[in-house]
Amino acid sequence: MKVIIREKAKDAAVWAARYIADRINEKAAKTSEPFVIGLCTGSTPIETYKELSRLVKEGKVSFKNVISFNMDEYVGLPESHPESYHSFMYHNLFDYIDEPAQNIHILNGNAPDLNAECEAYEKAIRDAGGFDFFLGGIGEDGHIAFNEPFSPLTSRTRVVTLTEDTRIVNSRFFDNDMNQVPKQALSVGVATVTDAKEVMILAFGPKKARAIHDAVEGGVSHMCTVSALQNHPAGWIVCDEAAVGELRVNSYKYFKAVEAAEKL
Ligand code: GLP
Repeated sequence: MKVIIREKAKDAAVWAARYIADRINEKAAKTSEPFVIGLCTGSTPIETYKELSRLVKEGKVSFKNVISFNMDEYVGLPESHPESYHSFMYHNLFDYIDEPAQNIHILNGNAPDLNAECEAYEKAIRDAGGFDFFLGGIGEDGHIAFNEPFSPLTSRTRVVTLTEDTRIVNSRFFDNDMNQVPKQALSVGVATVTDAKEVMILAFGPKKARAIHDAVEGGVSHMCTVSALQNHPAGWIVCDEAAVGELRVNSYKYFKAVEAAEKL
């Protein structure tokens, strides 16, 4: 695992966007096969999506041969709801890039058979050739996608029940009323994410510091599902200074030394 630390969240977000654009361009230069990417929602990726949109507008990267699969979606929330992850993705990324509509995949939280929807999603990911790259955020408890504590690290796309903590944290998007936050979601599993060739997790702000400590310095545990990244051959955590506030000084110095040596 590599941890990239920038003083400000914006600089970290821009670094991540440029890294992703480079990976897309690198694959496009080698093959006509599509670049398959996993995408996340939340306030954390917004600046990265802005930078990617800017790079597309400037012709520095194209999503024409990119296939995307989003991580998760609430169950029972209409797609047109302003807080659905469908709405989020169009308003923050898809409306500004050149990804063909048929390449965009987001779980349908209103499907008549939710289990069938999840199975079909896993199959669609396999049929696309598997993920080249997965971009994720984390919850304050270290959940990745909606893989709450106690989710098996071998989990796949499925229906999940949200913890009360997550519903309280996410109530800021629902008039601060947790009763408006859906109780369930569809989510890719931890193994769906870690199967990707490369995984990058963004974490900004002091509220993520405990989760980053657990993910980086704690053991691999279902209590903090992002800790599964410790066993990944190409895992990145991209943070601002506030999010690494609970790392040990020696860990912090090591990651900064790697950044400097590898000119990251
Ligand atoms: C939700 C999403 C996660 C996201 C998390 C953090 O729980 N399911 O994928 O990482 O929120 O959101 P934020 O970036 O707003 O802190």
